Amino acid sequence: MSIMMPGRLGALLTSSCKISSRNCSSLGALQTLKVRQKIEEKRAAALLGGGQGRIDAQHKKGKLTARERISVLLDPGTFVEYDMFMEHTCTDFGMEKEKIPGDSVVTGHGLVNGRRTYVFSQDFTVFGGSLSMAHAKKICKIMDQAVLVGAPLIGLNDSGGARIQEGVESLAGYADIFQRNVSASGVIPQISLVMGPCAGGAVYSPALTDWTFMVKDTSYLFITGPDVVKTVTGEEVTQEELGGAKTHTTVSGVAHRSFENDIDALLQLRTFMGFLPQSNRDPAPVRSSDDPWDRYVPGLNTVVPLESTTAYDMMDVILGVVDERDFYEMMPLYAKNIITGFARMAGRTVGVVANNPKHAAGCLDINASVKGARFIRFCDAFNIPILTFEDVPGFLPGTAQEYGGIIRHGAKLLYAYAEATVPKITVITRKAYGGAYDVMSSKHLRGDTNYAWPTAEVAVMGSKGAVSIIFRGKGSEKNEQEYIDKFGNPFPAAVRGYVDDIIEPATTRKRICEDLELLSTKQAEHPWKKHSNMPL
Ligand code: HXC
Repeated sequence: MSIMMPGRLGALLTSSCKISSRNCSSLGALQTLKVRQKIEEKRAAALLGGGQGRIDAQHKKGKLTARERISVLLDPGTFVEYDMFMEHTCTDFGMEKEKIPGDSVVTGHGLVNGRRTYVFSQDFTVFGGSLSMAHAKKICKIMDQAVLVGAPLIGLNDSGGARIQEGVESLAGYADIFQRNVSASGVIPQISLVMGPCAGGAVYSPALTDWTFMVKDTSYLFITGPDVVKTVTGEEVTQEELGGAKTHTTVSGVAHRSFENDIDALLQLRTFMGFLPQSNRDPAPVRSSDDPWDRYVPGLNTVVPLESTTAYDMMDVILGVVDERDFYEMMPLYAKNIITGFARMAGRTVGVVANNPKHAAGCLDINASVKGARFIRFCDAFNIPILTFEDVPGFLPGTAQEYGGIIRHGAKLLYAYAEATVPKITVITRKAYGGAYDVMSSKHLRGDTNYAWPTAEVAVMGSKGAVSIIFRGKGSEKNEQEYIDKFGNPFPAAVRGYVDDIIEPATTRKRICEDLELLSTKQAEHPWKKHSNMPL
């Protein structure tokens, strides 16, 4: 390794060399020693971050340090660090005297279950993990390289936001990261794990990434904290209520999952990464599985209740069908009327979208539409086939939904399905009513294989509503039965080729695995466009 000499020192050494070669070698050796010593000192300082006191404070809060987090996340001994010696350049407010090598973020790459992954981990012990221009440059460097190499990026966020002493430099640094988040979107998977504060405009980097995870009780995300909220709106709210993990996983939908503590979050993240391809250039990963691909699942033959209005849990269907009952659910506590998550079929990653009759009868509302749409777009961007289980009575009626823009938001789900070119397999387990029939990966939206179970009902609406409209409120039970006989079964769709087959539920896994194999060579394209204009 060659070491660059500082200008004056280099000149001094050169002139010494002219005097005597013996002097020269001893001076050179001394200089090398000095530099080596300095390297070790700086390295030790970087490893210590903001000092033992602040590390202890971090531990007291139940949080790991930035480096400890990286060591849990990555395979042992695989971390390659960049820019450990980089320092901030601020000279205001006495900052020139307070420099810590590496500044407030640790960056580099390593392996997660043997696969290359880029990572940055904000160090709260150094100026509260706040973002200086140096901090931003370190993150931008690994973002650029992750895109070039085609490997995922994980951000471990724990930061007091913009480095106040740096002013606009810090804001510029944020924008540099935002721009890269957007450029990398759909190219490499980007995952944010929020493990401490994330406030102000800083929240927009996690929001621009594909997935945002949080740690319960120690992390929060908000645009303005409780004090500002009180001043502006008069509301009194705690940090936890305003932007804690519970709020964002159940109410706002900003975060996709939350975990008990740092260790749990990092280990879960390792599991999650196993479902994802490295980039949009790679196929969805395939992992060997002991679960027979043609496994007959007798329980599925009786999972749908005899009474059409009785609820059941679609999760039972999903768990019965996927490899080893292993399902990684995304947004499990938000819009429970639609289930989204990752699983494997014969070892191959699939994205599952399913209406859940157990919650709000499985209807589509604003939150369910947005949740489903974003999930589908991620799968499509990263070559992950989409498996849809459908039991949907339609879009939720009412002023709350209409005023909230269900038309606009429901269109997102429709758009996402129609736009997706990855393999799309749909199973109608029971209701496929109205516009929701069209939306949920129907044949008409380029569904590749569409199946109906014998319990399927494909109709414009349920019998009660239909008869009351057809007969202007004077319909009889006989009329209702006539409607059910006509539409309360899979034949109206099957005779028209809108479903490819009516299958015995127990054979669903086998059929899907066969289709995924068949469709693995699927190619589909869009007409040229700069980009589409999704109804946002
Ligand atoms: C510089 C900061 C800092 C910041 C914290 N510190 N935030 N230094 N810039 N933004 C320093 C503190 O001075 C302290 O230094 C150390 O980090 C730890 O902070 P504490 O306050 O002691 O920790 P804690 O009590 O846990 O509180 C954490 C906190 C609080 C809630 C994050 O520090 C805080 O409110 N910070 C300011 C948050 C903020 O307003 N940021 C700007 C948001 S606007 P010492 O030396 O004592 O250890 C923004 C715009 C981005 O980010 C726009 C992008 C478009």
